[in-house]
Amino acid sequence: MQVLPAVAKEIERRRTFAIISHPDAGKTTLTEKLLYHGGVIHETGEVKGKKGTKAVTSDWMELERQKGISITSSVMTFDYEKLRVNLLDTPGHKDFSEDTYRVLMAVDSACMLIDVAKGVEERTKKLYEVCSYRKIPIFTFVNKLDREGKDPLALIDEIEKTLGMQCYPVTWPLGIGPRFRGVFNRITKELMIYNQRREEVESFEIVPTLGQDLALLLRKYLDPETAEQVMNELELIEGALPPFDEQAFLRGEISPVTFGSAKQNFGVDLFLKFFSRYAPGPATRTTQEGVQMDPLDQKFTGFVFKIQANMDRRHRDRVAFIRICSGKFERGMKVFHSRLERELRLSYSNQFVAQDRETVDEAYAGDIVGVNDTGNFAIGDAVSSSGKILFEDIPRFAPELFAKLSVQDAMKRARMQEALQHLSEEGAIQLFIDPVIGPQDPLIGAVGELQFEVLAHRLQDEYNLEVRINRLPYTVARWPRTEEGKPVFEIKGFNLFRDTKDQPVLLLNQEWDLNWAQRENPKITFASSINR
Ligand code: G4P
Repeated sequence: MQVLPAVAKEIERRRTFAIISHPDAGKTTLTEKLLYHGGVIHETGEVKGKKGTKAVTSDWMELERQKGISITSSVMTFDYEKLRVNLLDTPGHKDFSEDTYRVLMAVDSACMLIDVAKGVEERTKKLYEVCSYRKIPIFTFVNKLDREGKDPLALIDEIEKTLGMQCYPVTWPLGIGPRFRGVFNRITKELMIYNQRREEVESFEIVPTLGQDLALLLRKYLDPETAEQVMNELELIEGALPPFDEQAFLRGEISPVTFGSAKQNFGVDLFLKFFSRYAPGPATRTTQEGVQMDPLDQKFTGFVFKIQANMDRRHRDRVAFIRICSGKFERGMKVFHSRLERELRLSYSNQFVAQDRETVDEAYAGDIVGVNDTGNFAIGDAVSSSGKILFEDIPRFAPELFAKLSVQDAMKRARMQEALQHLSEEGAIQLFIDPVIGPQDPLIGAVGELQFEVLAHRLQDEYNLEVRINRLPYTVARWPRTEEGKPVFEIKGFNLFRDTKDQPVLLLNQEWDLNWAQRENPKITFASSINR
């Protein structure tokens, strides 16, 4: 059965996305400007410090206070035109962790942010791969056009070659660095001429070009050399590119590219306009039985994609972040927990940066709610207002940092083992076992440095265990599979480890070793993620 029309209207206006980028590409700056256009903040500079928001004023982990960073990925909600936009934060600097990848399991599209001078950087590539695995549509925003950078044609070529995805320039920059004067909107055929080089204030002139001599207009606004270059570039792309194929975009095959400067708040509005026109609403989710769960289904369903421990130390509670897949959420509602096979009440929920709205009473498919959890939830758990439901797994992603722990007091080794087991089930870390040594002395794998720090802190705080972290030289983990997808338990010349599901894992010191292993074993697939 379908939801009531009023609920359907709410669901259909949801747009849930995340920004994927390498540190320093300008994610915080762009987020600020998006929130500014969404009316959440009235001047920029509010997000960066996170001052005054719940994130800092509430009793967060001590570690977080010590480091002055945000461990959690928060959800930022704003209205734009008729849409309710949920922007999920993807922790990127020191707080990069497996959570960053998991956030991408909960979005319906992504915006890939690229620094025009740096091009496709390593972290962007990894995050892109996760999006590509899910085949979600990806917008591209090329940032910092007010600075010197790569030639835009060469940059487009680089994106296409590095990521194996086609690009469709929606706008084209009119010059770069000090010559940057605006963009040409290839869809509306308008020039957006940037008038003032002042931060915060977006001031531009819209010049229609249809039926006019474009070259003449360009010369009016740009210096002769830039005008000629832009004309040549436009002729080249107009001649070479087919029209925008929306279906190919929705399949994640073509990325529409816009250019701008987040810092100068230029091009952000244009990106948002394009986003609001083309970003897909809540997608259907596939259940383990292969059924497509329609977001407009009357049944409330959702899954946990992230667990934040110890947000409020007085209660020692955790917060489970649920992406709503279908129907409507109401605070206090009873749901069926599929893994535990029992009912429980979703008692409390909150959102992080929303217009004066911290506690959510109602939420709809596409939204994210954080519910208090006393240990019932694990990553990937599904809930439903009626009956059992299981969604497709949230994969585990290959860690890049590895360590072994040693505990000061040898008597406490069993407790440490138990604690590690528990924390790995929660998804805070991954464990790998050397089959010769056995499970009593596992290796710990993490995607980001902070995961180790959080681990040491939690072992002390929650389990009273003082540990030393001894780093190991591995940087690559892969799950070897046959062409049919079966696990490969033996590879000549390599010592395979096991994960907690007894799946074989290859741990290597460097990417080079992986290339070698691949060359020697061309029939084996070395997967960088695996189902939980
Ligand atoms: P991140 O969250 O992706 O790590 O990046 P963030 O927004 O913090 O931006 C990183 C740096 O890049 C900042 O400079 C920021 O001002 C600058 N930046 C972002 N967008 C643009 C842009 O469009 N043009 C230019 N020229 N710079 C941009 P910073 O020196 O680290 O900080 P600040 O003193 O400028 O705030």
